[in-house]
Amino acid sequence: MLTWDDQSTPALQPVRPLPAAAPEPAATAYAPVTAAAPAGSPSSHSVKAASAQRINAADKRIINGQTDVNQLVPFKYKWAWEKYLATCANHWMPQEINMSRDIALWKDPNGLTEDERRIVKRNLGFFVTADSLAANNIVLGTYRHITAPECRQFLLRQAFEEAIHTHAYQYIVESLGLDEGEIFNAYHEVPAIRDKDEFLLPFIDAIMDPNFRTGTPQADQTLLKSLIVFACLMEGLFFYVGFTQILALGRQNKMTGAAEQYQYILRDESMHCNFGIDLINQLKLENPHLWTAEFKAEVKELFLKAVELEYRYAEDTMPRGVLGLNASMFKGYLRYIANRRATQIGLDPLFPNEENPFPWMSEMIDLKKERNFFETRVIEYQSGGALSWD
Ligand SMILES: [Fe+2]
Ligand SMILES: [Fe+2]
Repeated sequence: MLTWDDQSTPALQPVRPLPAAAPEPAATAYAPVTAAAPAGSPSSHSVKAASAQRINAADKRIINGQTDVNQLVPFKYKWAWEKYLATCANHWMPQEINMSRDIALWKDPNGLTEDERRIVKRNLGFFVTADSLAANNIVLGTYRHITAPECRQFLLRQAFEEAIHTHAYQYIVESLGLDEGEIFNAYHEVPAIRDKDEFLLPFIDAIMDPNFRTGTPQADQTLLKSLIVFACLMEGLFFYVGFTQILALGRQNKMTGAAEQYQYILRDESMHCNFGIDLINQLKLENPHLWTAEFKAEVKELFLKAVELEYRYAEDTMPRGVLGLNASMFKGYLRYIANRRATQIGLDPLFPNEENPFPWMSEMIDLKKERNFFETRVIEYQSGGALSWD
């Protein structure tokens, strides 16, 4: 299952300059396991990368690139760098948010209904481990296979944000004095949560396998599929029932500290999802041969399965109507989101004419730093841009 991969990082390999006439191709940026060139890779590029020639931005590639991954500039993928800067400007930490109202409400026997408590516990049950899966997927999987340093820079930031998210969920669990064993084991013990994770794991495991490397159409499709599942279905779909529920609580002035944490997390995840979609589209642009009719059909099936799993999660977390929400409203919402994700990566919409039943969620995603809906935070965190050297 999820194992630690302690192979040497690919990033270190292209540094060692080889003689221009070296008969053996240099280790490529995407071949962390052995120094042999992967099948199908043009070895002449490897020799070029290993020589002292300066990098031409046009030679950079999202995957299977031959340019030195240690050289961030010259930029080719400006969008990745800009997203990296944007995520840094949104920096926040969980402890900055005041949880005292949440704690008082949770402890008050009449503070919340049983259905509302169920929502909070199920939410945390999914998210306390989901973001660890996300972090592992980035650090032990995706990062090794991406050869564009601008994108790696974003992934490093993203990995830290996943750590902040796990921290935030843990902080809520601790603040409310919830049963840690129950919450952290929910992904084993609650079928609706376990099924979502079991859907994701094969796509994470495939690219974390130390023997996996890109360079053949089949392997490149495996990576592309994993990127799609991760960005569009995990971060872009599986998080949305939970986010909507907690933000709905906040809108009713309940669990406002938790809601604020979720609001910041939603903003981060929205950026992760958008970055992932840009990455997927750029990879497609550079490798159009991967986007076959068969591949698209397979991806479509994955979308349909993910919508079904997330809907089952909605039913499990809301056996009855609560907070003005009910499971069937989420059927429309999940279809609406799935259509959006599908079209963002160049697929046809999967469900015709779905409207967004929760337009207020869009407002939450577009949160501006100056404003927070739940007003639990006194000082807005501002990093970057504050130093003056004059
Ligand atoms: Fe996250
Ligand atoms: Fe994320």
